[in-house]
Amino acid sequence: MQDIIRQLEQKRQAARLGGGQRRIDAQHAKGKLTARERLELLLDAHSFEEWDMLVEHRCHDFNMQQTHIPGDGVVTGYGTINGRLVFVYSQDFTVFGGALSEAHAEKICKLMDQAMKVGAPIIGLNDSGGARIQEGVASLGGYADVFQRNVLASGVVPQLSLVMGPCAGGAVYSPAITDFTFMVKDSAYMFVTGPEVVKTVTHEEVSAEQLGGARTHTSVSGVADLAFENDIEALISLRHFINFLPANNRERAPRWPTDDTADRQDLALDTLVPEDPNKPYDMHEAILKIADEGAFFELQVNYAKNIIIGFIRIEGTTVGVVANQPMVLAGCLDIDASRKAARFIRFCDAFNISLLTLVDVPGFMPGTAQEYGGIIKHGAKLLYAYAECTVPKITLITRKAYGGAYDVMSSKHLRGDVNLAWPSAEIAVMGPKGAVEIIFRKDLHDQAKIASHTEEYKAKFANPFIASERGYIDDVILPHNTRQRVARSLAMLRNKSLENPWRKHGNIPL
Ligand code: HXC
Repeated sequence: MQDIIRQLEQKRQAARLGGGQRRIDAQHAKGKLTARERLELLLDAHSFEEWDMLVEHRCHDFNMQQTHIPGDGVVTGYGTINGRLVFVYSQDFTVFGGALSEAHAEKICKLMDQAMKVGAPIIGLNDSGGARIQEGVASLGGYADVFQRNVLASGVVPQLSLVMGPCAGGAVYSPAITDFTFMVKDSAYMFVTGPEVVKTVTHEEVSAEQLGGARTHTSVSGVADLAFENDIEALISLRHFINFLPANNRERAPRWPTDDTADRQDLALDTLVPEDPNKPYDMHEAILKIADEGAFFELQVNYAKNIIIGFIRIEGTTVGVVANQPMVLAGCLDIDASRKAARFIRFCDAFNISLLTLVDVPGFMPGTAQEYGGIIKHGAKLLYAYAECTVPKITLITRKAYGGAYDVMSSKHLRGDVNLAWPSAEIAVMGPKGAVEIIFRKDLHDQAKIASHTEEYKAKFANPFIASERGYIDDVILPHNTRQRVARSLAMLRNKSLENPWRKHGNIPL
């Protein structure tokens, strides 16, 4: 018995040491923490229960039988974050470069299966050289087993990926399926094929960082949601972020204590929208003033900046915000903005998170780049996401709501529950200039007539009245009362119940 306990301790010691002190030092020298140090920062103190610490690979090729490291390159188990259960895996780059073997994949799959059974989020800390080359197809099979579970868990429990090292080849598809992907600057990169293959195939010379670093994926491709300076900042932010989310699709997000009263007025909102309709303003101001304690967890901050997405709380309850940003491209909807917002809306809908939509949109972006890129299909994603979703939807039109974009941005017609407008709202098929040039083309030579038609058009449509007369807007509110009106609407909608017709699944225009 004593002997067994001694052996157990030796094996545990070996597992804790991973690939050995030399490789741990190398990991630290790159500014990276080890798999276990990361878990210590991510989880509440002493909450981690490790599973499969003694699992080893079963490979006999390429002399692999001579190197067995208990745990096989991934630390798995469960623990708590702020007292709430989460399942985690943390790849250990010091063991075969964190490469995924059959046994390594089985460990990940085991915790994913358990997380789905008990309804708790799955967090992956990725730091891996990809498929374990010595194992060949067994490791490819292991990846596919993980992907399959990512797909089945999608919309059941939140899945978060924090990429903290290499993530290459098909391995990138696990984070891609998860709900949110965070990356660490300068040490994380994700690509389907690395710089060498790119050079051979396309003759492009590009560094790993340029090809798939955190900056690239948070500003150019939109593959990742946020980039952090280092491991510590990323892990602490992930702890903070998960507080916004429910444990699973049958629960609500935890209510967060707040001293911010629901009826707080904010006079600054009365002057946020400039008199000149062509002048931009920062929609973040509105979001911050509506939110509890002015706190907004924004996602995809540097990608498709013409739309803003992220989480706030109102009366302690998580709310997903989607807002046009007049400061960028005048708030136009383009391909990237449509995709960015659509996926976020679907996440909120899957996880019972109410949506607040702030609208100031002159329309969809014109041009060949957009049409050739498929704005029709991508814009339809946004429309589809809003139309399909059944969580409480509150819409506030702050200024322009023109054309198809009016319809798309959570309008009454797409089952918006509460549709509000500020007095500065303009709801029309298009802006005055464009409209007059079309319907009064015959008067284009006469500036005086055009000016008079424009004034007439503005008087008719540059206000919220026509939409209000038809009930498309439930009420025109004074900006300083916005927080109170949104809070009351959310409280009224707390027990909203709405179901879509039965179907296997819809066919969103992918
Ligand atoms: C086995 C691997 C490995 C792998 C790295 N190692 N990748 N072992 N399988 N895929 C080992 C190295 O041999 C080395 O062992 C240790 O991990 C650290 O690797 P280094 O190269 O020394 O580290 P570094 O210089 O930081 O480079 C990291 C790296 C590089 C960029 C990840 O190792 C690399 O390019 N690896 C191969 C990546 C790759 O092509 N993977 C397959 C992708 S395709 P020692 O003993 O020396 O410490 C794929 C398909 C998935 O993943 C398909 C899913 C559908």
